[in-house]
Formats: sequence, C-alpha cells, structure tokens
Amino acid sequence: MPEKMYKRVFENNRKWAEEHLSGDEDFFENLAKGQSPEFLYIGCSDSRVPATHVMGLDPGQAFVHRNIANVVPNTDQNVHSVIQYAVDHLMVEHIVVCGHYGCGGVAAAMQSDDLGLLNGWLREIRDVYRLHADELNAIEDEEARYKRLIEINVLEQCNNVLKTSWVQKQWLRRKGPIVHGWVFDISTGLLKDLDFPHEKAMEKIREIYHLDV
Ligand code: CO
Repeated sequence: MPEKMYKRVFENNRKWAEEHLSGDEDFFENLAKGQSPEFLYIGCSDSRVPATHVMGLDPGQAFVHRNIANVVPNTDQNVHSVIQYAVDHLMVEHIVVCGHYGCGGVAAAMQSDDLGLLNGWLREIRDVYRLHADELNAIEDEEARYKRLIEINVLEQCNNVLKTSWVQKQWLRRKGPIVHGWVFDISTGLLKDLDFPHEKAMEKIREIYHLDV
C-alpha cells in the first residue's frame, strides 16, 4: 500500500537519525559543517545497488552520481558537472565507476527494441559494444556475453572519465584521483574490482585526448 509505505519512510528516518545520534550525539551537527568525501561514486540507478550501503560508508563519505547503466556520455553536462566538482573542489581521491550484473540498461542495449528517449542513452552502450565487437561476438554463451559487456561498459566509462581536462589536470598536478572500475554482483552482494589500470589507461588516453596546455 503506497500510503503505508510513505508513512513508514518517515518513521524509518526518525529511527535512523536516532541510531546515529546514539552512537555520536554530534553526528548531524558535524555533518552539517561540510563534506570532504574520499570517493566519487558513479553507478547505476538500479534500486538494488544502493551506492553507499554496498560500500559500507556513512553519510559524507561518498559523492554520488547515478544514471541508467552507469554511463559517462561525453556531452552529458550532469555527470560532467558532478565529476568536475568532485575533482576540482571536493578533491576526491578515488573515482569509482560501478556497474552491476543483471543491469537492465545493458540488457536493453543488446536488444533491438525501440525505446524512445532511451535509444540515445543506450546508444552509449551500443558504441561500447561496437568498440569491442570482436571480443564480445566470440563469446557464444549469451549470459556470459551480457556479463562481459557489463564489465567492458564499466571500463569504457572509466576511460570517458579520463578524457576530461579537469581529471587530466588534477592527475598531472597531484597524481590523483585514481579511477576504479567495479561490478556489483546482486546475487552475492559482493563487489568485484575489475582492476582498471588507471596509470596505463591515462597514458593511453592522453595520446589522443590530451588537453593540457
Ligand atoms: Co543497471
């Protein structure tokens, strides 16, 4: 029942706030003073992948951006505003792009349905498929191919983060932030590190996308 659930949310919120205060009576007062998160997390909007929960983080520890299939389109002002602010102002140390197995956005990009407005968004993933078509088409098992596209999509979105001038400038200045690619396995609750080779990838990206003066 929607009404019941709505009421429960506010009750849950009061309990949640009380729990935090019982551990630290200044918790929210300190939180209100400002943020200095160590992470920028870019993940999927999927309700089963709650960003800070799966990382075991408290409020204030991760700056979060979520969209369908955790993509970083080159002309998306939303995600790039988030990245620039996180990198230039919050000075985050790590940028995580986190995908998840069973991603509906990636599944939709593997099918031929006309999804209206979503077509353009999902084309970002089809572009990833085209870049890696040889590897992906060589995987006969459809489920395995789907999983691999989810992983490759994460790695390509990591590359897209590296293509921006603000990330490149900060890297040259302070050797940070480090970009990581992860996948969350909903069936186990566990995160998998795809070992995105940040330093090597930055070198490779800058061969073509170098933007320093
Ligand atoms: Co998803």
